[in-house]
Amino acid sequence: MNGNLICPSMMCADFSNLEKEVTSLETAGADIFHLDIMDGSFVPNFGMGLQDVKAIRGATKHLIDVHLMIANPGEYVEMFAELGADIIYFHPEADQHPARTVDKIRKNDKQVGIALNPGTAVSTVEELLPLVDFVMVMTVNPGFSGQTYLPYVDKKIKQLVESKAKLGYQVMVDGAISPQKIAELSQIGVDGFVLGTSALFGKKEPYSELISKYK
Ligand code: DX5
Ligand code: ZN
Repeated sequence: MNGNLICPSMMCADFSNLEKEVTSLETAGADIFHLDIMDGSFVPNFGMGLQDVKAIRGATKHLIDVHLMIANPGEYVEMFAELGADIIYFHPEADQHPARTVDKIRKNDKQVGIALNPGTAVSTVEELLPLVDFVMVMTVNPGFSGQTYLPYVDKKIKQLVESKAKLGYQVMVDGAISPQKIAELSQIGVDGFVLGTSALFGKKEPYSELISKYK
């Protein structure tokens, strides 16, 4: 056990059996349910809807995060807080006032995460790092599951891991995370892994076997 946080990316789940999926992932040891919200503008795709958030909230007492891949995320903090998200990730790239959005999430008693696109440098969010609970590094360009890992992001991951203890956040990764990448990145200090089609969904092994291997 490495103490890895396992976050199933629920946009990859079997939606014809969502409640059953949530229950089996919960029983299998999943830590945080990861819900991708997209607006077709900040990312060229549409992820999960508000009904999906409601359904998953109603099916589990486990932590739920929403990954807001949307423009002007600050305008939607209350909406997702009321829907029962425990952690709200937003992209500073999509927000003219990211520090204000951090405040809004705090005022709604939720945990705060920032998600950084592959092309976003750590230096551009330096002022935010001490204010947040999670920094999620996108290891693919956001919007779609089943993509290929972008190795140039590894440098940024190492940089964020180096200052996480001092600044008080956990480092998460999201996108094309394979079993090999979990082992490698866990070794260097990454705390949590969003898992979609590369390591969890659509495999022949049951969720319990996979998640016990990754934790
Ligand atoms: C991509 C999403 C990820 C994605 C992960 O924009 O944020 O959560 O669904 O799925 P895989 O592991 O298939 O890349
Ligand atoms: Zn995501």
